[in-house]
Amino acid sequence: MDPQQMAHTGPRKKRARQMGASMAATPQDIKFQDLVLFILEKKMGTTRRGFLMELARRKGFRVENELSDSVTHIVAENNSASDVLDWLQVQKIKASSQLELLDVSWLIECIGAGKPVEITGKHQLVVTEDYSASLSPSPQKTPPPAVKISQYACQRRTTLNNHNHIFTDAFEILAENCEFRENEGSYVVFMRAASVLKSLPFTIISMKDTEGIPCLVDRTKCVIEDIIEDGESSEVKAVLNDERYKCFKLFTSVFGVGLKTSEKWFRMGFKTLSKIRTDKTLKFTQMQEAGFLYYEDLVSCVTKAEADAVSVLVQEAVWAFLPNAFVTMTGGFRRGKKIGHDVDFLITSPGSTEEEEQQLLHKVVNLWKREGLLLYSDLIESTFEKLKKPSSKVDALDHFQKCFLILKLHHQKVDSGKSSQLQGKTWKAIRVDLVMCPYECHAFALLGWTGSRQFERDIRRYATHERKMILDNHALYDKTKRVFLKADSEEEIFAHLGLDYIEPWERNA
Ligand code: CTP
Ligand code: MN
Ligand code: MN
Repeated sequence: MDPQQMAHTGPRKKRARQMGASMAATPQDIKFQDLVLFILEKKMGTTRRGFLMELARRKGFRVENELSDSVTHIVAENNSASDVLDWLQVQKIKASSQLELLDVSWLIECIGAGKPVEITGKHQLVVTEDYSASLSPSPQKTPPPAVKISQYACQRRTTLNNHNHIFTDAFEILAENCEFRENEGSYVVFMRAASVLKSLPFTIISMKDTEGIPCLVDRTKCVIEDIIEDGESSEVKAVLNDERYKCFKLFTSVFGVGLKTSEKWFRMGFKTLSKIRTDKTLKFTQMQEAGFLYYEDLVSCVTKAEADAVSVLVQEAVWAFLPNAFVTMTGGFRRGKKIGHDVDFLITSPGSTEEEEQQLLHKVVNLWKREGLLLYSDLIESTFEKLKKPSSKVDALDHFQKCFLILKLHHQKVDSGKSSQLQGKTWKAIRVDLVMCPYECHAFALLGWTGSRQFERDIRRYATHERKMILDNHALYDKTKRVFLKADSEEEIFAHLGLDYIEPWERNA
């Protein structure tokens, strides 16, 4: 069969092929000097070979365009060892005993792992002398196990080990562009596609691999196909070059600037933050003033070490007033992320009065003000009304008292003299979110504030459509039985919903 056709089981778009330049890896990109790979085109096809070569090179493998004596590993697909040896003979290349003849499954595992994986029997090509062998399924033809993938992120385990970055990055850019254009429908389409690909235990390398995967509509399949064929998506490229996208991306990177303000600045023709910052006619909110003032610190991501240091500050301050309070780091860091745009905390205090509860964040903020650590704070009082039915809106905001802050985090003392990059400034501005919740709903609040956003959207959607229940950050309501279902832990909430428990680090949907 024509290898071009093989890759095209999905929807099709015509465009010019753009390979070549982006395919070449410079020598300094090579991480694994001992391996010299060559991928056999026979029975694989030019497109798929080119795609695999690019992927492998990006991961630091040395992949040769031509077969030579320096090649140590030959990778083939749908070829037996004798097929490869025959081919080598035609090429007049002597196969040394050190030369590894491997099935493409080995290379795919390597690409997934980002390093060479151990070669085992299942990877090595075998010489098939008799034809009976070709009748029984050979290892490389075994399809991936037919486990049905759920359309809901809350029924998938999504760790940070994303095998499909090349596709999910593209979808996230397209989704963001839809967000900037307030096109909610398309935003959801792209985010669901990104989310499902993040949960896959393998890298998609042909359209065939997308069969049976939910949430991939024609529109997203086209993007996948583009990337498989060309190594990039023309749609994504267009978005990245789009003025509106570029401006919105830049403007919303300022703390306190949302879509409304970005739209205004974009319409006024602004292109850079420095022009905006120095414009005499513009009025900024306090939040935006702080956003500009600490811009460089806030756009450089928060590390886990910084998050842990903030955690100590939060605990000390909270325990000074309510020694029995629980302080839990939520958000991305609870999901195991190594960096974040802020640090999120959930605070709850069993046995405290409503008054004490309401006062805590005020006291904490005042303490930091006195200590000179408070750079910005915006305290939102609770809008919680008892006996209120949970909201069925999947992106609903909650009613808890919360505080959006910028804190001054002093750099830890480092014993080595590597402090030149600090240039006199001994602290970094860090965005911190604090949420205070009544103890009865701490499990719901914890589940809600751990994210990811896509995971939250899907677990709510699942509750509504599959269980006739309403889940939000405060409660779980069973519409059939007309009762609130109590829970003391996240595990109990999953159990009420009839879901297998998904650990926080498996919620990176
Ligand atoms: N959240 C929420 N209501 C809000 C804001 C956030 O319920 N008004 C929840 C979301 O589910 C989100 C989590 O709190 O997943 C943390 O939000 P955020 O800090 O924005 O995202 P992270 O996942 O922590 O990512 P990042 O590393 O960028 O901070
Ligand atoms: Mn966060
Ligand atoms: Mn946050």
